[in-house]
Amino acid sequence: MSKQDLAKQRAAEAALEFLPDGEVIGVGTGSTVNYFIDCLGAARQRIAGAVASSVASAEKLAAQGIELVELNSVGTLSIYIDGADEATQHRQLIKGGGGALTREKIIAAASRKFVCIADESKLVGRLGTFPVPVEVIPMARSYVARQIVALGGRPTYRAGFVTDNGNIILDIHGMDILEPTQLEQTLNNIAGVVSNGLFAARGADLLLIGTSDGVRRIG
Ligand code: A5P
Repeated sequence: MSKQDLAKQRAAEAALEFLPDGEVIGVGTGSTVNYFIDCLGAARQRIAGAVASSVASAEKLAAQGIELVELNSVGTLSIYIDGADEATQHRQLIKGGGGALTREKIIAAASRKFVCIADESKLVGRLGTFPVPVEVIPMARSYVARQIVALGGRPTYRAGFVTDNGNIILDIHGMDILEPTQLEQTLNNIAGVVSNGLFAARGADLLLIGTSDGVRRIG
């Protein structure tokens, strides 16, 4: 296993400590979360089930014998565990590298505590080196792209990718993100945008950062 994978696995294992006994939890998407789902298999008796942020995670959870629950059939979740593509010390994030950003944002919003698991390569001083994914209604693609150019970004179409919600993704490169909360809101206000991968207004409550010699906690 590579050093980075080991760090992801460490962060994932550390999240087990936060499992609320007998409750339904929120589970995100990505390679770090996949390590978490692997650990969750052995701890499945402790929880009542999981709300998944993607079809891919739902399949992995089901394979571990974990009951899948619809978000609409539960109230506020006490915990949501998910990865990130970038994270700051202030626990603001860029997510959506795997294209599951909208469902991730919904589950994060519906959860009391968002525990973000990541390896140390994800920790940055300022967000924006990783392109910001934006989920867009297909007919609005060109319009939204022009609006993003007007904001100073370089949108690229994620060719051949369709989200679980049937939409497309534009990845915004080259944005100087000085005010993540403001940019998150500005992007959301463009007609045709479903959501964007800046998790700034509602960031993580706790970062578990896997490193070569342990897990660093921020928050
Ligand atoms: C999925 O859409 C993303 O938000 C993931 O949480 C993010 O891409 C992190 O993925 P990895 O754990 O694979 O780096």
